[in-house]
Amino acid sequence: MDRIRVIGGSRLEGTIPISGAKNATLPLMIASLLTQDTLTLKNVPQLADVITLGRILGNHGVDLAIAGKRPGDVQGQGQTFHLTARDIVDTVAPYEMVSRMRASFWVLGPLVARMGEAKVSLPGGCAIGTRPVDMHLEAIRALGADIDLEDGYVIASAPKGLKGARISFSKVSVGATHNALMAAALAKGETVIENAAREPEVGDVAECLVKMGAKIEGIGSSVLTVEGADVLSGAEHTVLPDRIETGTYAMAVAATGGDVMLDNARADLLEEPLDVLRAAGVEITETNRGIRVARNGAGLKPVKVETEPFPGFPTDLQAQLMALMSVADGTSTIRETIFENRFMHVQELARLGADIALDGDVARVSGVKGLRGAQVMATDLRASVSLVIAGLAAEGETVINRVYHLDRGFERIEEKLGRCGARIERLSA
Ligand code: EPZ
Repeated sequence: MDRIRVIGGSRLEGTIPISGAKNATLPLMIASLLTQDTLTLKNVPQLADVITLGRILGNHGVDLAIAGKRPGDVQGQGQTFHLTARDIVDTVAPYEMVSRMRASFWVLGPLVARMGEAKVSLPGGCAIGTRPVDMHLEAIRALGADIDLEDGYVIASAPKGLKGARISFSKVSVGATHNALMAAALAKGETVIENAAREPEVGDVAECLVKMGAKIEGIGSSVLTVEGADVLSGAEHTVLPDRIETGTYAMAVAATGGDVMLDNARADLLEEPLDVLRAAGVEITETNRGIRVARNGAGLKPVKVETEPFPGFPTDLQAQLMALMSVADGTSTIRETIFENRFMHVQELARLGADIALDGDVARVSGVKGLRGAQVMATDLRASVSLVIAGLAAEGETVINRVYHLDRGFERIEEKLGRCGARIERLSA
């Protein structure tokens, strides 16, 4: 298993290109199940999760062609995917697939909508929380499918197709909104989704569905009105920039000091995290090229943050913020409200000398004068990158084990940071 070695203490200077968003790419790839025509996605990041989903969709009959590089293309620039689901050959998503990647559960809505049936494994447990799927089932049921649970599988059937309905979610769920939205795009008549997730990745999928022929109003708001189409067509869509990758590198610069341009980053996708960084004393400048992040010798001020659905502070940046606040001048309070077990990084950060006290869903982070490198273990995607940030800020060597978590969601991280002066390398097993 690969590991990552970081020697801390270098300031970051230079440019980091921000990739296409993983959490938009995955549902966009799944949306290809809704049409027999080709869906072309540009700016697709090179990530383990994207490859895994490509294989999973292949089992359902999606043909994935990855366009080759053309002269002038920058190595590592977003890829172009052509996804064609001319015939759906299998409506079963087996346990081995869904348990590897939870987002593949989202094939449920598109499969029932197009084929009138689907058998999709329940995803099972997860390192960051229980993550039930009750709201997904509620939505697909509201659209007229019969749903049974059998031997760990969801069996959904709607032989006459789905029918538009009012879906009112009891809380905000990104995945349930994706599932409902994609299903509604092929349902007969109008669907209204209330308390929909407003995450930019949901908006990106909605924009793509509009290009495919669905009529959707309220994109970006918490009420989505969808007029389904009998048939959806192919389309071409460019994946929006990854706001979590953007925030992660911004926090890395804040932790080490330095001056980095985050190319292609869009500030409107992460106003709240940028405000938190400004409050901590980090210099943030929005330019038409992206976002410039700088911190000179001044100390970091502590912050008080709660994770919230968009536009609030994202849970996917909580671990990174905690790593940063570990070296602030004072005590920060970070409350996690989305997932009940998303503090696995706390004990690992403690190995580097961080002083963090947990009290239920609140972490009190008392900034220390300096962290010291150590061996640590990645537990999930965002937790592992928080260890990279802490390692960059620490004195000496940090070795992060179980790097496969990192590869699920960060494209060429050692290269991107290395080019800005970080001493970081992959140790292949
Ligand atoms: C998406 O997960 C993201 N994944 C997560 O990113 C992200 O942390 C999360 O949204 C919250 O922003 C992808 O986009 C692939 P939810 P999702 O449904 O959709 C509860 C990463 O690191 N809930 O919005 O699975 C749930 O337990 C990942 O990239 C129900 O109770 O998250 C949680 O407490 C990790 N019933 C809350 O809602 C349901 O049916 C929000 O979860 C569904 C969810």
